[in-house]
Amino acid sequence: MPEKIIIDTDPGQDDAVAILLALASPGDIDVLGIVAVAGNVSLAQNAKNALKVVELSGRTDVPVYAGCARPLRRPLVTAEHVHGQTGLDGPDLPEPQKQLEEMHGVDFIVETVLREPAGTVTLCALGPLTNLAMALVKAPEIAGKIKQIVLMGGAYFEVGNITPAAEFNIYVDPEAADIVFSSGVPIVMMPLDVTHQMLSTHERIETFDGIGNKTGAAVAAMLGFSERFDLEKYNWKGAPLHDPCVTAYLIEPGIFEGRQCNVEIETSSELTRGMTVTDYWHVTDRPKNAFFVRSGDSDAFYALLTERLARLP
Ligand code: BDR
Ligand code: CA
Repeated sequence: MPEKIIIDTDPGQDDAVAILLALASPGDIDVLGIVAVAGNVSLAQNAKNALKVVELSGRTDVPVYAGCARPLRRPLVTAEHVHGQTGLDGPDLPEPQKQLEEMHGVDFIVETVLREPAGTVTLCALGPLTNLAMALVKAPEIAGKIKQIVLMGGAYFEVGNITPAAEFNIYVDPEAADIVFSSGVPIVMMPLDVTHQMLSTHERIETFDGIGNKTGAAVAAMLGFSERFDLEKYNWKGAPLHDPCVTAYLIEPGIFEGRQCNVEIETSSELTRGMTVTDYWHVTDRPKNAFFVRSGDSDAFYALLTERLARLP
């Protein structure tokens, strides 16, 4: 049976690739809906980008919702410097014809989890955790029914990318992350520690382009754009590809390695706001609330992406 998931996202070129991977894999993943959140750019722009990505995939049967327009307690911090003014700069995607659903994205999450049998719905978070936290606050009873939350966020050994101490998704809404990490829902975490191993080298981008379909060309254009900032920043042979680790994990978990740890979110310090304090060496007896993924096989990851993107238009 395919894994039933809801994707919560702020697309974002890497979010787009994560979504395309899921939509290309109906035998493994049943995407019940996509919910946009404020993050890389504004909620309205992220929602529009989600519609564009769904149309690119040809899977217009998948509903798209708009969720929260700002973090719980903080002004929104965005990342146009990485993703461009639209959040999805690079390919020339048409204006979407598909419309957003009327229901609020948080209500969609709550209603879906309550409607489906307990322990069958996985929430995939590719942006700040605002919508997931709001759903858990609005209907705390969903915590016992969600199968797991698989998220891209945080870091331990690699520390931070938006500040010296914090990764972007957790930094933008640390209070929301705190609610999610203390919810008791099983969490699988894809931190910078693994995403920094998944480098979109020139050869790998060329391979996407070489698939010869519209999706492969669009993905190559997306990554060609978003890597510019990171190549200059890190001086590596490619840019990290973050969010697709989430959907790849659902299809081929054997690509990744990690361990159960306690992870707590720093919310009070301005200096280390949004830091994911990970008890990687088990030096406390705090509850092990997250499966912290530390490494992955990047060749297998890119092979999976190439094979699946080739199935799309
Ligand atoms: C995360 O931040 C966003 O800019 C990316 O889409 C990814 O979700 C990486 O820190
Ligand atoms: Ca993202």
